[in-house]
Amino acid sequence: MSIKNINVIKNGVSYTLDKVVYKATECSEVYARASENDTYILVFNNKGESEEMGKTIIAGNWKMNPQTIDDAVRIANELCLGMQDIDLTDKKVVIFPPSCFLETVCRVIKSHGAQNKISVGVQNIYFETHGAYTGEISASQVKSIGCEYVIIGHSERRIYFGETNEACNKKIQAALQQGLKVLYCVGEKLDEREANVTDEVIRMQLAGGLYNLSAEQAANLIIVYEPIWAIGTGKVATADQAQECCKTIREWIISHYSDETSNSIAICYGGSVKPSNAAELMRQTDIDGALVGGPSLTPTSFLNIITAS
Ligand code: PGA
Repeated sequence: MSIKNINVIKNGVSYTLDKVVYKATECSEVYARASENDTYILVFNNKGESEEMGKTIIAGNWKMNPQTIDDAVRIANELCLGMQDIDLTDKKVVIFPPSCFLETVCRVIKSHGAQNKISVGVQNIYFETHGAYTGEISASQVKSIGCEYVIIGHSERRIYFGETNEACNKKIQAALQQGLKVLYCVGEKLDEREANVTDEVIRMQLAGGLYNLSAEQAANLIIVYEPIWAIGTGKVATADQAQECCKTIREWIISHYSDETSNSIAICYGGSVKPSNAAELMRQTDIDGALVGGPSLTPTSFLNIITAS
């Protein structure tokens, strides 16, 4: 087979071949078919450098669950055991336990030798580096115990804790400074969707959250589109609705940065993702992964989402 001249156009961007990752008769995303019988997964040379690029990201947000450290350990153990048999070549799995259980969960993952399979993140940080901020935790503190990711701007933080786009921007800056990768959440409320201002809301959240970020900094972000009306409600956005908003995000990134930066930023969907709808959502052109809430607490469901994605 001659692989040298393969050229693929995805999301309007032309990619030339860099290397063949592996050969399989079946794979989730077929970039190129060399012959009738062989299917190759290929990596293209302008997809960006980050570890997640080209992979489907499956993130599990445990929120203020589970209730005890024993529960957290059990979930982490079951997840590690279940992941032993899953092919993760084209997937990146990250879990976000409550901050009080972070260190223990990191240890459980290490005890299974699964640190290359599951990364750990924190659900929130404060933007100051240290000092008299009772009850808050900093980016460097969580980094020092093995966290690699942080969620910023989750709608629950915006709604219950009054987090503004400006505060999100400060938190993003603080996180990036410490080398944490950021999942920045955006999304509209039901009345905003009904008033046809979804795109404007998303663009404002992007403009505020990413204010003053260089292209180099922005390339470390993962943007998560989470319609607030779909979170924890069982009401999932249709694949078309999710794709449309993720496309809006992609276009905003291209117009404020470049095609190249947009290729480095994964865009995920969150809101009532479950094993039965994950595959269809992940098939959408501009959806690169999922942020999962409720089902991430049940290892079998989360594992089924990972497998289906
Ligand atoms: P859900 O939560 O999957 O329970 O809807 C998603 C989220 O809040 O990230």
